[in-house]
Amino acid sequence: MPEMSAVGKPPVIAVTAADLDDDGAGVGTVDGRQWHVPELVPGESAEVAAVHHSPHQPASWGRIVARTSPPSADRARPVCPAFGRCGGCPWQHVAYPAQLAAKHRRVQRALGDLAAVAPPIAAPSPIHYRAKGKYVAGRTDGHLALGAWARDRHAFVDTAGCQLVVPAIDRVRGAIVAAAAGARLAPADERRRTGHLRYAIVRAARDGRVLVGLVVHGATPPAIMAATAAALTAAAPEVVGVVRLDNDRTDGGLLDQPPTPLAGAMTLDDQVAGVPVALGASEFAQVNPAQADALYAHVAALAEATAATRAVDVYAGLGGIAFALARAGATVTAIERDASAIAALTAAATRAGLAVTGEVGDAARLAGFPAVDLVVVNPPRKGCSPATLAAATASSAQRLIYVSCGPESLGRDLAALVAAGWRVDHAQPFDLMPATSQIETVVRLVR
Ligand SMILES: C[S@@+](CC[C@H](N)C(=O)[O-])C[C@H]1O[C@@H](n2cnc3c(N)ncnc32)[C@H](O)[C@@H]1O
Repeated sequence: MPEMSAVGKPPVIAVTAADLDDDGAGVGTVDGRQWHVPELVPGESAEVAAVHHSPHQPASWGRIVARTSPPSADRARPVCPAFGRCGGCPWQHVAYPAQLAAKHRRVQRALGDLAAVAPPIAAPSPIHYRAKGKYVAGRTDGHLALGAWARDRHAFVDTAGCQLVVPAIDRVRGAIVAAAAGARLAPADERRRTGHLRYAIVRAARDGRVLVGLVVHGATPPAIMAATAAALTAAAPEVVGVVRLDNDRTDGGLLDQPPTPLAGAMTLDDQVAGVPVALGASEFAQVNPAQADALYAHVAALAEATAATRAVDVYAGLGGIAFALARAGATVTAIERDASAIAALTAAATRAGLAVTGEVGDAARLAGFPAVDLVVVNPPRKGCSPATLAAATASSAQRLIYVSCGPESLGRDLAALVAAGWRVDHAQPFDLMPATSQIETVVRLVR
């Protein structure tokens, strides 16, 4: 802990940042304590005054009192007008190669001695990659605006001009704002439970066509919604469909009632792993489709699948991994708890003539498929359930590919798998979300 440096002055401590935390603060270790310092980029030093000491771990948060080094060459000019206020992409002030280096350190730290981690494969573009925007409705200068919750407080930030979404999404965001104003569609006031629009979901296909989901309170008059959708489709010809999603939930959940049509199509035709799919407004799909396809191709190459391969894709989502394996010749069972995703996956596989069978249910259903050659798991951030890991080990699979979006849960699960007799022979991070701390990792295990 810092000593008082002089009578009447706040105690300061010299910190040199060596890493980045999830919020984009520089992190430096002094006497075994990790100091998180906003606006300090790795490689930079400063005198820092304490703002908060964690009561649970040797970690403190501080603010810069004086900079004691020149700016790092890894500093970058943030591209979004709302950077610093919007909580979405807090690593924009760091150059992309330094972001990748920080992600590499994070995965290697999480995997420790379990694997030598390769440097991450960079996204094709560090900006304009997000194919889906989920906007919160709020007010700017008294008018409806679309944006996000602020990073450190429950306040609305207008994210007009966001550079992380594909340009069509920001254009359509502006068209929704204009259409809503003309139709008197008001932003919802979550505390008073008044108003109409809670969120807008804007999804873009690779060919530039866009699907819009308007998430509204159930009492929103149909005439207002119809007028908004008509004005929006007239102003933005790339919008192929507008759907209404009624939602009176208070827990932040996006899904409540199934969508109802307002204009045009209910789904957007796009591709996952090269297979045509019809995506709904709120369905889970990887936000960076080009990089997700690269990841799926990598999984298929690691699997060395042939026409004789029997594979199970667990936590299958819309089936990107299953499709990539089936296109390489494998016969695949796809397990996923979201019935609508399995319906979309099954329809797409049937249309494409791929040998993929969908199973709606918990990941632990893997135990029902013991006679397989390959298991692939791609769980949510918290990792796999012990029952799923045990089922993979109990199966006859000689290869297990683990695709993870949570390096720390991956480290935990790999330790359990290694203890159960598996060995890691490949660990390759893929960056799907530049300007954030998020990182996917593909790991192959053999017996
Ligand atoms: C990280 S996503 C991966 C989806 C897909 N593999 C992809 O590449 O898009 C995780 C998926 O697991 C599903 N899921 C979460 N928990 C599950 C569980 N306990 N059993 C089955 N599926 C689950 C989610 O619905 C989601 O589709």
